[in-house]
Amino acid sequence: MEFWRQINDGRGYALEALTPDELAAVRGMITDQYLDGLREAAPGLVNRAEAVGLDQYHTLPIPFDHGSFWEKRRRVLPASAIPAFERMGFFRRIRDRLPSASVYHDDLMWRIVRPGQPSDIGPVHADKWFWDAGNGSIPAGHDRFKIWVGVWTEPGLNGLSVKSYSHTSDKWKHHFEFKHGKMKPVLDESAEALNMELLPLRSGEMVFFHDALLHGGVVNAAQTCRVSIELTVAYKAEEGERLLAAARKTAA
Ligand SMILES: [Fe+2]
Repeated sequence: MEFWRQINDGRGYALEALTPDELAAVRGMITDQYLDGLREAAPGLVNRAEAVGLDQYHTLPIPFDHGSFWEKRRRVLPASAIPAFERMGFFRRIRDRLPSASVYHDDLMWRIVRPGQPSDIGPVHADKWFWDAGNGSIPAGHDRFKIWVGVWTEPGLNGLSVKSYSHTSDKWKHHFEFKHGKMKPVLDESAEALNMELLPLRSGEMVFFHDALLHGGVVNAAQTCRVSIELTVAYKAEEGERLLAAARKTAA
């Protein structure tokens, strides 16, 4: 099934992948920013951090509070990273279908989830809820979808969990709380009852998903840190509608 139909009419997501060279480039961009952060807070650890790699971050004797130090501004890649992503194969395949597609800079953010740390993962949510709460804005007449990229992952032990088809319903109970200067959605459904499915993603594999799809992290059961990066893709709404109509016609 065409990715656009999988996201919109199907289970709410589609799978894609980086090439090995692209994965190496993404790892390099994230590692540079990570080492810059450490240089600021723990300069004595930089050489060791560089030698062991980002997935071994949890083995470093960090002298700061992990959660508060790695705030969003330290994890959003510089705008100069956008053209690098937009030149990659997966993005060229998106632009073949949606010529207006572009990466929204404010959300070009990586995340690190240490082994066995429940506080490193956020609650299940739909990205739409953040936008509904007034966080961020994309140009008028545009829609968006999300891309989650596994940068260092262990299939079955960490990664992204999703609730297939959840984007077709708006019944999911949630409310908003003001936290860290932002309105944040909080799910009021029991996570067990939702029966979330952990996608078995290897490093370099990625998920394109609908703005209204329920998703979340899982406590990392691996021995290594999970690192991921997310991209919000904005595109002209009319282009998305035309593509969906054409894809449905082909499928019919
Ligand atoms: Fe999200």
